[in-house]
Amino acid sequence: MPDVAMGRSIRSVLTDDVLAKMGLEMEQARGLPNAAFVDEAFYELEQKYLFARTWVFAGRASQLPDAGDVRPVTVAGQPVILVRGRDGIVRGFHNVCPHRGARLVTEGADGLAMMSCPYHAWTYALDGKLKSRPHFHRPDCHDTQGDDNVSLFEVRTETWHDWIFVNLDGGAESFEGHIAPVEAWFSGIRLGELTCAHHETWEFDCNWKLAFENYCDFYHVFLVHPALNQSMTKDARKSMLTMGRHLMNEYWFEEAGRGGAGDKSGLGMSLVPGITPEGQNRAAYTVMFPNTALNVYPSNAQFVQFEPLGAGRTRMHMWFYFVPEDVGNPAFKETRDNLYREWDLLNREDEDICRRLQEGRLCDAYDGGRLAPYWDQGTVHFHKQIAEVMTA
Ligand code: FES
Ligand SMILES: [Fe+2]
Repeated sequence: MPDVAMGRSIRSVLTDDVLAKMGLEMEQARGLPNAAFVDEAFYELEQKYLFARTWVFAGRASQLPDAGDVRPVTVAGQPVILVRGRDGIVRGFHNVCPHRGARLVTEGADGLAMMSCPYHAWTYALDGKLKSRPHFHRPDCHDTQGDDNVSLFEVRTETWHDWIFVNLDGGAESFEGHIAPVEAWFSGIRLGELTCAHHETWEFDCNWKLAFENYCDFYHVFLVHPALNQSMTKDARKSMLTMGRHLMNEYWFEEAGRGGAGDKSGLGMSLVPGITPEGQNRAAYTVMFPNTALNVYPSNAQFVQFEPLGAGRTRMHMWFYFVPEDVGNPAFKETRDNLYREWDLLNREDEDICRRLQEGRLCDAYDGGRLAPYWDQGTVHFHKQIAEVMTA
């Protein structure tokens, strides 16, 4: 294995040669080299130079429904708090007290009027402004005015439907620009009218990028996912389309397989608002750079996050959405449970493959792949986006 010493630089992995080969025609192109998948030092670099530089998923808006709801989360390895203000807006702050640097919040809380630091009780409003400092001037002489020049360190935060995204370093493009291709892909579909009904996780023994690439690889469906394969028409399957930094794909259901094994359409349940007659036979996907995905089926949707746990370990989250009336409707309990079961079976079918993808990356001979031009364009596009952000 190439040198794995700490202190590795980005350009020792993303060399000129690697960047040049990524840009070649598919027959000659190579993807990211092994170190990008197995090296803990590169994993640390990704936190700072990839995840902190882009818009990344931080939590669901419906987890903090009311003013004063506070949730600590971790983004790019850093503690962040999400806070819903009195104006209804969710804001993100670095989870640190500006006074002496104590971590401010360790557990979620509901309906707080203020946030108070446990060290010296400096108190902050929900918009981050400093409001009071007990014994600040001397014992029993309190600062009750606060100071407009002191506030929690705010993080760029945007709520898109039920999903909160943050950009830690403040330098990413506008969120509108970032999400525009995804909005175009799902144009007319009213995702904001769906409700989250269920959350499930799976863990894979591989780098987050391998889990992510595998998720958008339609090529392995023929062999690895027999039930899914049977439920999809064959003719229109193709590589992911590239739109901005993201990837999109879609497939049509095999008529004979509707309602059978592998069918995740939620047959019989209410349609997702805005689905067209044509969309009733279609599954539409996007994988949103860098590590989330959104699937829209006729009667359900899933939001997916590939949470990196280390260079060789990934937790995949999946949140299931339906129209609100269907979420608790006992008539659809079996359909919902069946959908969760289908996804569980599908994701388990990927466990062994994900492990093999990671193990294969221990072979020095592998230099980023001999790629399939029809199928692998999405993976190369994904690798290019990572390289572009990390070397910017
Ligand atoms: S560190 Fe928070 S009040 Fe002092
Ligand atoms: Fe798979």
